[in-house]
Amino acid sequence: MIRLENINFAYRDEPVLQDVSFSVGPGETKVILGSSGSGKSTILKIILGLVRPQSGRVFIAGKDVTNAREGQLQKVRRKMGMVFQGGALFDSMTVGENIGYYLLEHTNRSLAGIEQAAREILDYLGLSQGLLDVLPDELSGGMQRRVAIGRAVAAENPQIMLYDEPTTGLDPISTLTITKLINKLRVEKGVSTIVVTHQITEAFEMADQFIVLHDGRIVFDGDTDGLLRCRQEYVREFLQPYLASVKSIPVGPTE
Ligand SMILES: Nc1ncnc2c1ncn2[C@@H]1O[C@H](COP(=O)(O)OP(=O)(O)OP(=O)(O)O)[C@@H](O)[C@H]1O
Ligand SMILES: [Mg+2]
Repeated sequence: MIRLENINFAYRDEPVLQDVSFSVGPGETKVILGSSGSGKSTILKIILGLVRPQSGRVFIAGKDVTNAREGQLQKVRRKMGMVFQGGALFDSMTVGENIGYYLLEHTNRSLAGIEQAAREILDYLGLSQGLLDVLPDELSGGMQRRVAIGRAVAAENPQIMLYDEPTTGLDPISTLTITKLINKLRVEKGVSTIVVTHQITEAFEMADQFIVLHDGRIVFDGDTDGLLRCRQEYVREFLQPYLASVKSIPVGPTE
């Protein structure tokens, strides 16, 4: 569904991605791990066609979109739902308007039809329909993220979902709700998924395919087992706090 081949990307003269290649199959979930500034969000922007690589190729659903024109890109983007870093919603629009935004802008559906669709999405998200007329800043951070996911999936049943740090800054319960929702979307709708996250425990709950990005280069690409066994220095360093915490979790009271 998604394939990047030898992508090089720089902002002006500052190299950000170097020789990045990977693919995500239909219904597969891949997590991108890496430090701040390593180029994770940039990869998602390249997949969406929001920025263009200086070299390399981008394939979406088998089509080479590297040099696609804006009109073609818009068609390709309709296959994709994106939850941006921070889960940004339009804060002057209600929850219902946020979720219905895509349908209002890009389809001929009636307002009643759009409201109905927004209600169904709220149901799917496990949120009350009473939230339809509420403004985002009246919601908790976790609810805002769920609405952001709702807005992304409202774009006519996407085949690809991209999430940029969907659980960062949330408490453990909200985090669990979001990871469950991401998994539900994959299982029930068979979407191909990329999740950018710093939270390794959540990463293991959502995916069995991982990329580790270090200074714009892929230093690991493989499954859970491979990741845990990987000897690459940066990967070890990145996983260290996680591995230490797993070892120190109490196993329950002993008699
Ligand atoms: N619009 C821009 N103009 C110039 N440089 C940029 C721009 N956006 C990002 N960068 C730089 O590109 C590099 C990669 O940024 P990117 O946002 O992809 O990192 P990231 O891995 O998503 O980081 P974080 O975990 O903090 O979100 C960083 O050094 C950043 O400063
Ligand atoms: Mg980022």
